[in-house]
Amino acid sequence: MMPVLVLLHLAGVIIWVGGMFFAHYCLRPVAAAQLAPPQRLPFLAAVLGRFFATVAVAVGVILGSGFSMMLTVGFKNALLHWHLMTATGLVMTAIFVYIYLVLYPRLEAGVAAQAWPVAGAAMDRIRKLVAFNLGLGAATILIATLGAYFGRG
Ligand code: HEM
Repeated sequence: MMPVLVLLHLAGVIIWVGGMFFAHYCLRPVAAAQLAPPQRLPFLAAVLGRFFATVAVAVGVILGSGFSMMLTVGFKNALLHWHLMTATGLVMTAIFVYIYLVLYPRLEAGVAAQAWPVAGAAMDRIRKLVAFNLGLGAATILIATLGAYFGRG
């Protein structure tokens, strides 16, 4: 069962972290350079709506498979770097939930009202938190993979 859980876990991680990388380093800079706010913000809101709905599923799969693997060995037998991954993964999840349930509706409402400064401010906060989560995601991948070389993990 463990290999299937790792497969599901990694599929979710690839979609989430890979998607954040693409959005932050490829999509947003080009949209910012080529589109004015009235074109850019509705476009990014629509793209992010599709991405966040997918990430919500990916996060469910990551947490489900991750905690199933923790329970397979028992929390108190789990390796140190697994506990660290759980902690950083839960912080990433909390940030995503805040983006999706608080900031994204603000972006959508701003776009719907054509209130570009409101939508732009929400987009700016989303951008910064996605960048932070991307860094935390990269750190989590390092912990998950290289953690085995350090200490008890
Ligand atoms: C928050 C809940 C999470 C839990 C409970 C959890 C738990 C686990 C467990 C138990 C494993 C198996 C480790 C092994 O077999 O060596 C694993 C593997 C892995 N996890 Fe997580 N994880 C979580 C979130 C994340 C997140 C958010 C990421 C990346 C952003 C991540 C990245 C990985 C990677 C890359 C592996 C494969 C490690 C390897 O096989 O070398 N995990 N996770």
